[in-house]
Amino acid sequence: MVMTGGTSGFGAVAARRLRGGNARLLLGARRPGTDVFPLDLADLSSVRGFAAAVRTELGDTPIDALILNAGLVRPDSDGRTVDGFETTFAVNHLGHYLLLRLLLDALAEDAIVVLTTSGTHDPATKAALVTPRHADADLLAHPDRDRGADPKPSRAGQHAYTASKLCTVLTARALSERGVTAVAFDPGQVFGTGLAKDLALPLRIAWKVMGTPVGWPVRRFSATRNTVSEAGNALADLVFRLQSPGGYAALRHGRLVGLQPSELAREEKTGQALWRDSARLVGESSL
Ligand SMILES: NC(=O)c1ccc[n+]([C@@H]2O[C@H](COP(=O)([O-])OP(=O)(O)OC[C@H]3O[C@@H](n4cnc5c(N)ncnc54)[C@H](OP(=O)(O)O)[C@@H]3O)[C@@H](O)[C@H]2O)c1
Repeated sequence: MVMTGGTSGFGAVAARRLRGGNARLLLGARRPGTDVFPLDLADLSSVRGFAAAVRTELGDTPIDALILNAGLVRPDSDGRTVDGFETTFAVNHLGHYLLLRLLLDALAEDAIVVLTTSGTHDPATKAALVTPRHADADLLAHPDRDRGADPKPSRAGQHAYTASKLCTVLTARALSERGVTAVAFDPGQVFGTGLAKDLALPLRIAWKVMGTPVGWPVRRFSATRNTVSEAGNALADLVFRLQSPGGYAALRHGRLVGLQPSELAREEKTGQALWRDSARLVGESSL
């Protein structure tokens, strides 16, 4: 198994369980550790290096599960990667897209790919974040060219995040169309993880406190709020196929349910354009 985002938050919970099975788990991460290979998704050359290291390590052994869970949220859309792309989009979508492309032919025939998305990509969840206006890879990579971009930095940052997660769902669907078993995992809202670490101090504190038992009453009355343990175990369940709720698996009240993603996420043409444009941005063929 190969995984990103297994060093922190609910991904770390999932990684512990995945390691407990018979399969070997190769983690891509910025911090060193056992069976951890260097990976910075904000740098496409690092993604290529990680994919090459995985292939060398595995030899002819096919990958039976690819878990693309890493992600970040930023307070604005001003960050740029070494490749010149907006950071949130680059880490959450483009880096993962390239990794996927580089490992696609190393997947076992019956492999599963799980990509962590967010319910915030869908206006129907009525999350507090700005919802995506589009999934145009060029505009997301270069938001300064997006005429509809919100001038308020925090709102532009929210759009970068929710749109990147829309891209995740579209990528999962594009994979399914190519005959790969792929699931977009929507963990609901999981307070207490490291996800708020780049946000303003009050938000970081609120995020942390809500992840403690103090946040329990709020979690209890909201279908979308889950604990770190619930989200990590649900992710592991999907990988082990203990639960198979379909192409969009959402965690609600601590249980996995199959849902429809947003309208935009179901647009075939939008998905095709995203695949093609992402390929161009990372220097791969459209396939
Ligand atoms: N928490 C929520 O409410 C929520 C809701 C919906 C979706 N999600 C998604 O769930 C996933 C896990 O989030 P979390 O809440 O558990 O947050 P988290 O604790 O911050 O975990 C994020 C993971 O992504 C890794 N990562 C971030 N930037 C990276 C980069 N440039 N290169 C390689 N790895 C990188 C982190 O590695 P480091 O340890 O090196 O930082 C960490 O392992 C994310 O995709 C997030 O968008 C979370």
